[in-house]
Formats: sequence, C-alpha cells, structure tokens
Amino acid sequence: MTTKQSADSAATGEAKQGNAAPSPKSSPSNGAEASALPLQPEFSNLKSLALIQRELASLEQRGLRRSLRQADTPCAPRVQVQGRPLLAFCSNDYLGLAADGRVVEALREGALKYGAGSGASHLISGHSRSHAVLEERLAGWLAPFVPSSRALYFSTGYMANLGIMTALAAMDGQAEFFSEALNHASIIDGMRLARATVKVYAHGDIQALEQLLTASTAATKVVVTDSVFSMDGDLAPLPQLLQLCERHGAWLVVDDAHGFGTMGSEGHGVLQHFNIRSEHLIYLGTLGKAAGVSGAFVAAHASVVDWLVQKARSYIYTTASAPALTHALLTSLDIIESPEGAQRRAHVQSLIQILRAELVSRPWQLLESDTSIQPVIVGANGDAMNVAARLLDQGLWVPAIRPPTVPPGTARLRVTLSAAHTAGELRQLILALNELGKGWAI
Ligand SMILES: Cc1ncc(COP(=O)(O)O)c(C=O)c1O
Repeated sequence: MTTKQSADSAATGEAKQGNAAPSPKSSPSNGAEASALPLQPEFSNLKSLALIQRELASLEQRGLRRSLRQADTPCAPRVQVQGRPLLAFCSNDYLGLAADGRVVEALREGALKYGAGSGASHLISGHSRSHAVLEERLAGWLAPFVPSSRALYFSTGYMANLGIMTALAAMDGQAEFFSEALNHASIIDGMRLARATVKVYAHGDIQALEQLLTASTAATKVVVTDSVFSMDGDLAPLPQLLQLCERHGAWLVVDDAHGFGTMGSEGHGVLQHFNIRSEHLIYLGTLGKAAGVSGAFVAAHASVVDWLVQKARSYIYTTASAPALTHALLTSLDIIESPEGAQRRAHVQSLIQILRAELVSRPWQLLESDTSIQPVIVGANGDAMNVAARLLDQGLWVPAIRPPTVPPGTARLRVTLSAAHTAGELRQLILALNELGKGWAI
C-alpha cells in the first residue's frame, strides 16, 4: 500500500516565528485594558461553539470522546485516582523509575543547583551545563552505533519528531519521506508540518519499501519508523531497513521511544539490541518513559545535530526544559545501565511470559509482542470501553485505545507492564480478564 501525502491543508503556513503583528481589532494598543473593550460582534457571535458542542456529542455517541482522570499519587502500579485506589497497567514507566526515591532526590538536588527553570530558549541563555552533561553522556551511549555521534536534548519526544522532520525537509525542498504505516502521531505531524512528500509503506513490509525507494528519484530520501510500535508492541525489522537505506542512500530515522532503557544489554536501546551501526542512522530516544522523567534526545552524526540546532524550530523557539530534569536524568541513566537496570528488564520479561502463558480463554486477541506493550484487541470502540469499564469496576486500570490512535475496528486494551509490577499484581489482571472473557458474547 502506498499513499502520496503532498502538501495539503493540514500543513500549516510558515509562521513568522510566532510573533505576527497583533491585529488592531483583537488587541488594544497598550495591551492593558482588554477586558474594558466592548466585545466586537465577530467575537460575541460564536456560532462555532455550538458546532464544537455538536461534534463533542457525536464523538460521545461513537464511543470516541476522551476525558481526563486525575491521579492523586505518583506514577506507580498502585495509584489513587480521584480518591480511589487502583492497580494500573497504563503507564510507560517501564522500569518503575518515575517515582524512584533516588531520581526524585536527584531532581531536588538539580533544582537546588540550577533553580526551578531555565529562563530562556537554548540558543538565548537557557542551555545549562546540566543539559550539556546529559547530552554528552547520551552521545557516548549511542557512539558504538552512530559514528561521530552527538546528542541533542529536546523538551519532549513529540517536539523532537517535529524538529527532525522539518529540519531534514529544510535541507532539501525535494526530499521524500518513506513512513511506516503504524508510525506515531508525532512523526506524522512532523512530516505534515514539513510539507514533505510522504510515501507510506505497509506495516513491516520491506518489499513495499524497497519498491518505493527504487522508484524514487529524490536526492534526499528519509525512511522513518518507530522501533517498538507504540500501540502494537512489536518491533520494526531494523537490520533489514538499514540495509535498504544503505543501498539506496537514504537516512533511517528510528524513533526508539519505547526501546530506550528497555532494550539492549545495558538498556541503551534498540540499536544496542540489534547491534547495528551506520552513519545513516538518526536516533530518537525519549526520556519520559523508561527513564522516568521527561524529554527526549536525538543522536546522529554531529553535522546532522548541528543542522537541527540551526533549523529545528521546535528546539529553537521554546524555553529550554528545567535543568533539574536533565540533572535527574543522569541518575536514571546510572540505574538503567547498572546490574539493577538489567534485573528490572529481566523482571519485565518474566511478567511478559506470565501474561502470555496465563491469559487464556479470551474472545479477544493478544497481539504478538515481546515488549512491555501487550495489546488485547477487542474490536469495536464501545466493546473496548465496556471491557475497560468492567475492569475499572474491579479496581484495575487499563486504558481502552480507540481510533484515530489505532485503525478503525481494532480498539484495544493497551496493557503495559512495568518492573514495578509484581507477578501477583499481574495475576489479578489476568484473572479478571479470563473471567470477563468467559461471559463475553463474541
Ligand atoms: C513512538 C513515540 N514517539 C514519540 C512519542 C512522544 O514522546 P513524548 O511523550 O516524550 O512527547 C511517543 C509518546 O507517546 C511515542 O510513543
């Protein structure tokens, strides 16, 4: 399957660095007395509010309306949500570090050392020693796999993907992107923002990708893929993808949001897992999932990273994250690559084996996955919501994932396992699912 995604209405026009001149209608000249101004007719005549409300009702009817729940306690398997104790299988805190006392203490130490905020964007005065030290450490982790590597810290993985895609497209207006069908929304949004020509290849379909690359005459080709697919939990065939990219002179952007910390003998991620090395690799790891804190980084050839510093607007035009966060991340990295980190990863593997062996007698399909992401496909949106609600009645919190996050007809429970779960806790979920499955009419 291929789809050509050209510049379309979804692509935004080039903003003027976000500071377009204020319209005289919307802003008083001195900016002081906005509330004293009479409402302009176009502001009081909000027909679109009724439209929004109709759309919300329609989402509700189709089982697609999303809502927020508030956790009162730190991220952990045992959480309290709006006063109610729950056992959660939702988070991406795969190694159980988000509430680890050592990481929290490092965050406190970082705040005392560097203050609460960075105060400015990286290129103005917000780039601190703390950011730089983390980047050097991460570049060292990736050096065996990405020659001449340099790392760059972004505030989030979402922003890192926007930055990579737009900067690569800025290098060559004729660049072509080859995107895996199940890629994360942040990759898709990045390509849209870049107004790039995009060809989508079917999930895991190396042959389809090869045909597209062979047919392409673009000088700059960029293949982009999740490493661990965020809603399916399976792995991209990276060694084969890399071979193809090397043969066709293409970049390979690997979004390792769910592999960093969880894969590889020292938790250095999916490139360590496969032991692959190439200048073609542009690697993205996120730091708010297995690393338990926040942010993301790109590791690539130093010139590519320098290009990001020049052109990645999601890096340039935003206040740098608090240096206390990058300081805390150093402690996460220590744990990830220590023998304790290896034990945590081994424990997650043992939980995965338990789930896959003991979740039986179910009308729903457990997707093939060796990672912490263990999706149970239910099918219809309403059914997925129903199963999630029945679990919640028993104090078990598992999110129902619906379109557009996943394809229509594949609504699912996204069970995620963490090193912080015990086998006993997991068995509570398995028991509940097995019982629910027995009474479920297909
Ligand atoms: C594959 C993938 N890439 C990128 C991101 C975005 O990372 P972040 O949460 O740090 O913005 C996610 C997060 O959900 C993800 O699953």
